[in-house]
Amino acid sequence: MAVINTAPPRGTRDFPPEEMRLRTWLFGHFREVARQFAFEEYDAPVLETEALYVRKAGEEITGQLYNFEDKGGRKVALRPEMTPSLARLVLAKGRSLPMPIRWFSIPQCWRYERMTRGRKREHFQWNMDIFGVPGVAAEAELLAAIATFFGRLGLTSADVGIRVSSRGVLHAVLTEKLGVPDEHFAAVCVLVDKLEKLPREAIEKDLAELGLAGSLVDEIIATLSLRTLDDLGGVLGEEHPVVLDLRSLFSLAEAYGVADWLVFDASVVRGLAYYTGVVFEAFDRGATLRAICGGGRYDRLLSTFGGDDVPACGFGFGDVVIVELLKDKGLLPTLSAAVDDVVFSFSEDLRPAAMSVAARLRASGRSVDLVLEKKKAKWAFKYADRSGAARMVLVAPDEWERGMVKIKELATGEQREVLLEELV
Ligand code: HAM
Repeated sequence: MAVINTAPPRGTRDFPPEEMRLRTWLFGHFREVARQFAFEEYDAPVLETEALYVRKAGEEITGQLYNFEDKGGRKVALRPEMTPSLARLVLAKGRSLPMPIRWFSIPQCWRYERMTRGRKREHFQWNMDIFGVPGVAAEAELLAAIATFFGRLGLTSADVGIRVSSRGVLHAVLTEKLGVPDEHFAAVCVLVDKLEKLPREAIEKDLAELGLAGSLVDEIIATLSLRTLDDLGGVLGEEHPVVLDLRSLFSLAEAYGVADWLVFDASVVRGLAYYTGVVFEAFDRGATLRAICGGGRYDRLLSTFGGDDVPACGFGFGDVVIVELLKDKGLLPTLSAAVDDVVFSFSEDLRPAAMSVAARLRASGRSVDLVLEKKKAKWAFKYADRSGAARMVLVAPDEWERGMVKIKELATGEQREVLLEELV
């Protein structure tokens, strides 16, 4: 018989209990922040129709699709991100869905990525999205949620920042000043996002394929190098709607008390085609890791699926980079299995008694591990220590006859006898 490989498929992870504890802890913070901001949880299938991800802008994500034909010949794909599924859900509900909505989820997403630190082939991605709010108040709310989340984990604005810009910046320069047709704008943004990864000639070639001059690259680079709103105002004019929007967003961030986390940086364009306005990405200020999270406004995604557009914005926050960062900063918690009591009976004939004790403790809400095999006391004490339990509850013949059990506090070693009725 062939021996199977015990490693999970390349780029995927197992979650044995010690890893699962960390995941549950992290997701607990995702959920708690979502609750504080009054977002409701939703979910969708991990398997979707491939058509949901067919976008022609040359995005990396489309090339990384885990897609195949199912047994019925349907083209399907494992979702690489949640946003198209969310858009599908909103479309399906149609007018019966009262706007605005604030929804969150923590889907597992699949991308056939080249693996680097912080990038795997599956990851869980906390998503928070708002539909039905056209103004930057929605973006401010999302940025505040991200900053709140960082704060909960013990990170400060000296550790991480959120780069904010708007696709409107490039749009204004390219379409208003340089006459680039609107239809090419999304594809140019996707290309621009690759500026640092691809040689200039490759970018120029791709621009030429769109019928655009290679010399646009210089204009694009000059635009992307803007780092203050004053400079942006100098280029577009202070009264330009994009400048006004960004100024308004930064002042709302002041009101939330999260302005310290934000930096304007025109080089943030993001690699997904559907963004239409404000875009943002969180980064570690030590600059050793990939983007921690990313999002933005996508007001026209629904019409690409044949529906009526609804203003929308949101973000995706992966579970991989943040753990790397917490590790680097020494902020990972030590988590134990959270067992309250280990119950042990000194003899086999006391097992039913031990079971009734365990049942009583469990009914009171405690987490109880009952020693199920015939074991020596020495073994049981070691076992309880290893399990990280708070107490051992010992069912011994003499005490039991008097209606009592012995309790040992494992942290202090202190022992006492307790009447059964006073156990909880
Ligand atoms: P994205 O920038 O492709 O955006 O992914 C968002 C985040 O997911 C990244 O910043 C990173 O934390 C995590 N992530 C992405 N790919 C991987 C990977 N291969 N391994 C580990 N982590 C990864 C989106 O997906 C948008 N749909 C987000 C969004 C929601 N925009 C609006 N609403």
